[in-house]
Amino acid sequence: MSPRTAAADVQGKVVAVVDVLRASTTIAVALANGARTVVPFESPDEAITRSRQLERGEVLLAGERRNAAIPGFDLGNSPLEFTTEVVSGRNIFMTTSNGTRALLGLQGAREVVIASYVNLAAVTAMLRAAARADAQILIVCAGEEGHFSLEDAACAGRYVRTITNQKASITIDDGAYACELIDREYGDNIAKIFEDSSHGKALAQAGFGDDLVACAAVDSHPVVPIYQDKQITRLGPDRER
Ligand code: MLT
Repeated sequence: MSPRTAAADVQGKVVAVVDVLRASTTIAVALANGARTVVPFESPDEAITRSRQLERGEVLLAGERRNAAIPGFDLGNSPLEFTTEVVSGRNIFMTTSNGTRALLGLQGAREVVIASYVNLAAVTAMLRAAARADAQILIVCAGEEGHFSLEDAACAGRYVRTITNQKASITIDDGAYACELIDREYGDNIAKIFEDSSHGKALAQAGFGDDLVACAAVDSHPVVPIYQDKQITRLGPDRER
C-alpha cells in the first residue's frame, strides 16, 4: 500500500483519493444526504457550459476557488451546505482547487473511491476487501497545488493503520509508513491536525471554523463514493459494481 501526492501511476490499482479539507469530505456528505451524482470538473467554465446543456434545475453548481464560493454557483465547498433539503435527488457539478483536479488526473485505475474521516469505516471495509483480493491499493493525497498537506497525509495514515490493523501480510511503502506515523502522533485529536495545517489555518481565518469540526467527525457519513464513468455515485444496493 502506498500514499502519493497527485499524479501517480494508478494503472490497475484500487485508488483512494483524500482531500479531507474539504472536497472529499463534502462529496461524502453530499452523497450521504441523497445527492444522485457528483460530477467533477476542471474549471468553473466547463461546469457552467455542461450545465447549460441540461434542463434547468437538474443540476446544482458547487465548488470553490481560494476557499470561497464561486460567483454565480449554487453552493460553495462547505460540507455544511450540502444538507438533505438542498441536495437530495440532485446532480452536483463540482470544481475545486485541488480535490476534483486530483480525481480528474486518475486514468486507468481499477477502482477509485473518495476517502475522508467522515466515511472512514465504510471506505476501510471496501479497501480491506480489495486487499484481501490481492489488489494493490494506492492512496492519493490531493495536497495543495501539488505539494504535501498535513491533513491529507494524516488521514491517509489513518487509512493505512485501519486497513493493515494486525494484518502482517499487507506490505506498505515508506510513504504509507510516514503517513501512519503522522496519524499516530496526533491520535484521535483530528482538530489539532487541522489547527496545525496551513489549509486548516486558512479555512479558520476565512470563517470556516465549523467546517473543520464537520470534517473531523469520524464516521458521521458512512458512504462509499465511487468515481466511475466521469461521475461519483454512492456504492450501495442500488448500484452494481
Ligand atoms: C480543494 O479542492 O482544494 C479544497 O477542497 C479546497 C477547500 O477547502 O475548499
